[in-house]
Amino acid sequence: MAHISDLIAKDIDAYLLQHQYKGLLRFITCGSVDDGKSTLIGRLLYDSHMVFEDHLSSLQTDSAKVGTQGADIDLALLLDGLTAEREQGITIDVAYRFFSTEKRKFIVADTPGHEQYTRNMVTGASTADAAILMVDARKGVLTQTRRHSYIVSLLGIKHIIVAINKMDLVDFSEETFETIKQEFGDFARRIDLEDVTFIPVSALDGDNVTALSDKMPWYKGQTLMQYLETVPVGDTAAASAFRFPVQWVNRPNLDFRGFSGRIVGGSIKPGDAIRVLPSGTTSTVDRIVTMDGDLSEAVAGQSVTLTLADEIDASRGDLICAAESPAEVADQFEAHIVWMHEDEMLPGRPYLIKIGTRVVGATLAHPKYRVDVNNLDHLAANTLALNEIGVCNISLDRKIPFDPYANNRDTGGFIIIDKLTQNTIGAGLLHFSLRRSHNIHWQDVKVDKDLRATQGNHKPGVIWFTGLSGSGKSTIADIVESKLHAMGVRTYLLDGDNIRHGLNRDLGFTDADRVENIRRIAEVSALMVDAGMIVLTAFISPFRAERRLARERVEEDEFLEVHVDTPLAIAEERDVKGLYAKARAGDLKNFTGIDSPYEAPESPEVRVDTSELTPEEAADQIIEDLRTRGRLG
Ligand code: ADX
Repeated sequence: MAHISDLIAKDIDAYLLQHQYKGLLRFITCGSVDDGKSTLIGRLLYDSHMVFEDHLSSLQTDSAKVGTQGADIDLALLLDGLTAEREQGITIDVAYRFFSTEKRKFIVADTPGHEQYTRNMVTGASTADAAILMVDARKGVLTQTRRHSYIVSLLGIKHIIVAINKMDLVDFSEETFETIKQEFGDFARRIDLEDVTFIPVSALDGDNVTALSDKMPWYKGQTLMQYLETVPVGDTAAASAFRFPVQWVNRPNLDFRGFSGRIVGGSIKPGDAIRVLPSGTTSTVDRIVTMDGDLSEAVAGQSVTLTLADEIDASRGDLICAAESPAEVADQFEAHIVWMHEDEMLPGRPYLIKIGTRVVGATLAHPKYRVDVNNLDHLAANTLALNEIGVCNISLDRKIPFDPYANNRDTGGFIIIDKLTQNTIGAGLLHFSLRRSHNIHWQDVKVDKDLRATQGNHKPGVIWFTGLSGSGKSTIADIVESKLHAMGVRTYLLDGDNIRHGLNRDLGFTDADRVENIRRIAEVSALMVDAGMIVLTAFISPFRAERRLARERVEEDEFLEVHVDTPLAIAEERDVKGLYAKARAGDLKNFTGIDSPYEAPESPEVRVDTSELTPEEAADQIIEDLRTRGRLG
């Protein structure tokens, strides 16, 4: 075999050492289903697997000879790159394949080529040094190729190989190769792809993959494998400022307190000054502890435990930075968003984002624009659908340390998670923080909620009515308010139909508008609770996520969710406003219960059914509940 090293026989330990420290290249392959991505990966794996098996048998014999521990060692050695990936908690639906040659170890994120492609590509790409873009020589540059190139550029992957595949099917034509090279080259310049290399290949037959092809004598460049073995790696992260997201606080006994995690930027030595964010506390590094003993320096990519000279407070999710070039701290940003779910993005909906080791609540504003990946035009957009890319403002429920993605992929990149399903539904790249986030502070006032509430005979709170149109929400809320008023309670009723004439008259009934409708009501009711009142809201409020948002805007015991649980058939039969008839006739779109969903509450504080109770009885039940909870004087 070509790659057998004499070292195996001569000095097994030296051989193992050489392999332990040979470089690791992470790359991704992008292409559509049929353009030969899997064949190419298969070819790379196959060609290096021969080496692998051969080494394995030699190492088994030789390691026995030199008295080391048998075949296990070399296996572990050859797979350690992959193990490290696993330890870093990459558990996504991307298959990471590992292979190795004499010169390098490789991890390729093998992203399956169907609908969920963008998601897999983004997740796989976040740590990649290089990307292979597959182009079918017969088809040339497609929309899909442009989309992938745009994402690759956005993700900051430095080295791009355009593998023009299936050259055998175009008679190994130099002209075809040159035409595609020209066309892609023009596009690549417009999206700032820096280092682009074109290689004509036939993945099926192996031409120019690991051996130069005699069928394309006009091609004077490297084979794909030569390129992968020599392209520079890992240069950027180590050169940037020191960044260390704390994964956990390591405190085995009272004498030792260390912060464990993986360095995601720069390097560190004992004695270096650091700053912990968001708190801003400073200290210096005392020791860099690892399983194999203390280090005199550690760099990006290494997992270590740091001990500090001072007893300072830092916990999981905090970011330890170089004291002189710390990350920024903010809670509002502009960001690129790549949407990855069939359900479109809902501006205003509370989502979670995970950035580094930290998970925080976040809402997205309406996109500033969406990008047409074919011509790079900026298009107006209200939302982002599956695979669409746009730019939005994003606001978080607390301040976080961050860097612009262009400076650091780990502290500037995030994923978006649905709160209820916990699915990853998008990814984002931070551009910069918005200035208002620095300049708007929470103003403390002297007359607070408790003081205001002492003027009334009650504890402030929200009575949140939810249910289908025609279920009786407004009617019951109206009676409850009258009764409370008679008892001297200061109240205010926010009613769907009324609010939609004023504050929310710009909103209709799409999912996105309903989310915004309820978001505003949640904010207004929180203000009214703060003003010391009992506020009643009567909105369909069909989505659990936004009702939960409203609940989270006030204290736990201040929210009373009332499900007016009248069956659809009965609400429709009443049809007080004639809207169900219109909806059934198709004259009214997105009508709740007909062609728009209603997500019933799972555990409301109160449930009333107006097909069983009169509105008067329902109101009494609610007042009784308030009394039992000690909310009335
Ligand atoms: S919500 O879904 O956003 O909470 P909201 O309670 O404000 O809805 O408004 C619902 C009221 O608007 C209904 O009671 C009905 O009178 C009216 N309406 C008009 N079109 C629709 C529609 N497509 N779906 C539901 N209600 C509608």
